[in-house]
Formats: sequence, C-alpha cells, structure tokens
Amino acid sequence: MESTPAAWSQADSYLADTLVGPDAELESALAAQREAGMPEIEVAPVSGKLLNLLVRISGARRVLEIGTLGGYSTIWLARAVGPEGRVVTIEAEADNAAIARRSIDAAGVGQLVDIRVGRGADVLPTLVGGFDLVFIDADKESNTVYLDWAARLGHSGTVIVLDNIGREGEIVRDDTTDSKVLGTRDGLRMLGEDPRFDATALQTVGVKGWDGFAIAVVV
Ligand code: DHB
Ligand code: MG
Repeated sequence: MESTPAAWSQADSYLADTLVGPDAELESALAAQREAGMPEIEVAPVSGKLLNLLVRISGARRVLEIGTLGGYSTIWLARAVGPEGRVVTIEAEADNAAIARRSIDAAGVGQLVDIRVGRGADVLPTLVGGFDLVFIDADKESNTVYLDWAARLGHSGTVIVLDNIGREGEIVRDDTTDSKVLGTRDGLRMLGEDPRFDATALQTVGVKGWDGFAIAVVV
C-alpha cells in the first residue's frame, strides 16, 4: 500500500472499526457539533479511546480538559474517571459549551462533567488544583500558558496530553509564520526544557491527517 493520506485514513477507519466500534452517544455528539458548524477538529475515534485508556491506566480521577469544543473528547474522558471522578472542561465559546452540555448529558455522564465557559487564561486561575490528568486541546498560541497551569494545578505524577504536535510536519518548517505552529513549538520546547516536565511525543496519521500528541508527566 502506498503511504498516502487516503491510505492512512482508510487504515485508521479499519482500526476504529476493529477496536472502538459503533457508539451511539459519540456519534450523536459529532452530529450535533457538525450541525452547529463547528470545525471537524475533535480527536479521531482511536485517539479518543487513547485518552480514555490513559485515564484508566493512570488511575486518574480528577481530569482537566482545556478546549471542550462539542464535548467529544470530554465524553471519552468522563467515561473513564469512575463514579467518584470529575472532569472539569474549559470552553471559550458559550455556544459550543451549550451544545457540549447537551451531548455530555445525553451520553449519561453529565453528573461527572463541569463545563467552565471562558478563556483558559481567565478560567484556569479560578480552579482548585489536584488534577491527575490534563488534556490540552485549545488555541495553540496559548500552549505554554496551559502547560504552566497544568503543572500548577497538577501534582507529581500528573499526566499531561497535549494535542496537535505534528501539524502536518509544519513544526519543522523553518520559515513558518503560522502562529499555531509557533505556539506548538513553544509548547514542545517548554516540555523539553522546563524541569517540571518529563515528556515525549507520538506522531499520528489517520482520519485527521498527520499530527500527534505530546505525553508528559509532572515530575
Ligand atoms: C486545530 C486545532 C485542533 O485542536 C486540532 O485537533 C486540529 C486543528 C486548529 O486549530 O487548526
Ligand atoms: Mg486538537
């Protein structure tokens, strides 16, 4: 098979069919966000499942998400925290948050999810810490601000997942002026240099093109 974006997507769909399967609640959440005209930038099904597994593998009970969008990844996270767990998720757009609220409630995990509407930089200082896992998936220009808050609101052992570290390979384009790519690089540099973090990254190809996650632990 030739390595093309279409082939990556086909193989990704095969993996999702084989390992994730149909899911009525998640499919309705996606339908609601498409209907509302949100960009199709939620995580892929296999990546949503990865988030769910990381919560379970790490035993995280208090999860923070920065960037709710329509609640797709929030549902994956909330399903993993257990009945005593909690997901706090921050969304800048009130319209998105309202749609996410409905989808999360319809998925049966509404009692586990606290949606805070506002810019991350405004909401994060109001939160009480103690988060065991932080998923950062918002405006890339603020990645270093979000990583700093993730460390402050976490503890030794907190897992941090940062989305979109590959950006179709643009992270190594020398002459880029794309603020999202520059923000992504700043976040990666911080993960590499700041002694509060120990990190690596995984590139992904699939239905969302060529991208990836950084995964870190708070030291
Ligand atoms: C963008 C943001 C995302 O979180 C994502 O997963 C893909 C793209 C973007 O803003 O371009
Ligand atoms: Mg993303």
